[in-house]
Amino acid sequence: MTPRPEVRGATIVGTGMYVPERVLTNRDFEAMVDTSDEWILERTGIRERHIAAPDQASSDLALIASRRALAMAGLGPGDIDHIILATTTPDRILPSCACTLQHKLGASGAVAYDMVAACTGFIFGLGLGRSLVGSRTADTVLVVGVETLSRIVDYADRNTCVLFGDGAGAAVLRPCEPGLGILATRMHSDGELGDVLVVPAGGSARPASEQTVRAREHYIRMQGKKLFPFAVRSMEDSLRESLSEAGLTPADLDLMIPHQANMRIIDAVRDRLGVSRDRILVNIERYGNTSSASIPILLDEAVRAGRLKPGDVVGFSAFGGGVTWGSSVARWTSARVAPATSETSLGAAGAEAGVRRTA
Ligand SMILES: CC(C)(COP(=O)(O)OP(=O)(O)OC[C@H]1O[C@@H](n2cnc3c(N)ncnc32)[C@H](O)[C@@H]1OP(=O)(O)O)[C@@H](O)C(=O)NCCC(=O)NCCS
Repeated sequence: MTPRPEVRGATIVGTGMYVPERVLTNRDFEAMVDTSDEWILERTGIRERHIAAPDQASSDLALIASRRALAMAGLGPGDIDHIILATTTPDRILPSCACTLQHKLGASGAVAYDMVAACTGFIFGLGLGRSLVGSRTADTVLVVGVETLSRIVDYADRNTCVLFGDGAGAAVLRPCEPGLGILATRMHSDGELGDVLVVPAGGSARPASEQTVRAREHYIRMQGKKLFPFAVRSMEDSLRESLSEAGLTPADLDLMIPHQANMRIIDAVRDRLGVSRDRILVNIERYGNTSSASIPILLDEAVRAGRLKPGDVVGFSAFGGGVTWGSSVARWTSARVAPATSETSLGAAGAEAGVRRTA
């Protein structure tokens, strides 16, 4: 009998992020809908968010984040075996955003496909990427979370428009010794709750028509109040599951990187897990909710700010439309922070501005 090849570990060897230059502040919204800076800040923790330029599509944001992640990893586009691109806002329905990114990157040897799991997409991508590396199906996996949510946000709806922003984050996975890198990943879905966060038209169920455009059915509709308790419960439960699978507890977490949907959700999850404020990272005030990009953006900021040391235990947790939720726990190895070149420099977006602790 042929011996079964040993399962390998998978670890993050490079990260990158990009947010567009244009900033929309809470004050800007006061002129657009019936809201106030105070309400938005108090109820969500958001001060500003970044908005893509008219000529920027999701693949353009993803391209910059991916190049930065590859530069940190010391790898080139030709090294990538799989591109898993998590997004709810692809450039077009066909071809996939991942294939467009593959072309722009020049990663001609890669298999590229989209992961549609809303805000949990990056976690699902990490889980799949880990399996691909672990099973020796791939040696190098590029996992990207990218959104241009400003293209599907209704700027006449105060319930949703203040929450979302645009951005991209990327991570490169490579093999490592078992027991290091990604130790556990949990992925969940429940389609029964699909109605809580939905873009009603533009798909096969309700194709685009004059009527759907007039009824504003191509924009996000959200039942925020219903989502809130689900978000808190699912992020907590899932992270506990991943920790337990890795033989760890919340007390072992050196750093927690939660999805950035609402500061009050993050605080509630932190309280329930008993994680101290200095061990949880937050940047929601600068970017709002960037859906599948929020965790890789925060991770890249943490890495470049020197917040992760080899051996540290880091936990990721997210929830999103679908509904979907999931988590991952990793024992950090090392990611080489390469000097910026003109192609990878961070620009005005201020990615190196540092990561604010919640304290
Ligand atoms: C959306 C959310 C911020 C609303 O906060 P909330 O404290 O639950 O607020 P409520 O829904 O109770 O609304 C309270 C009031 O504020 C109003 N309101 C909503 N958005 C507002 C805004 N931008 N400015 C001012 N008032 C607003 C509501 O209309 C409501 O008014 P009413 O009582 O007259 O109907 C919050 O529910 C939330 O974050 N939910 C999770 C959503 C989420 O994470 N979505 C992304 C999934 S990845």
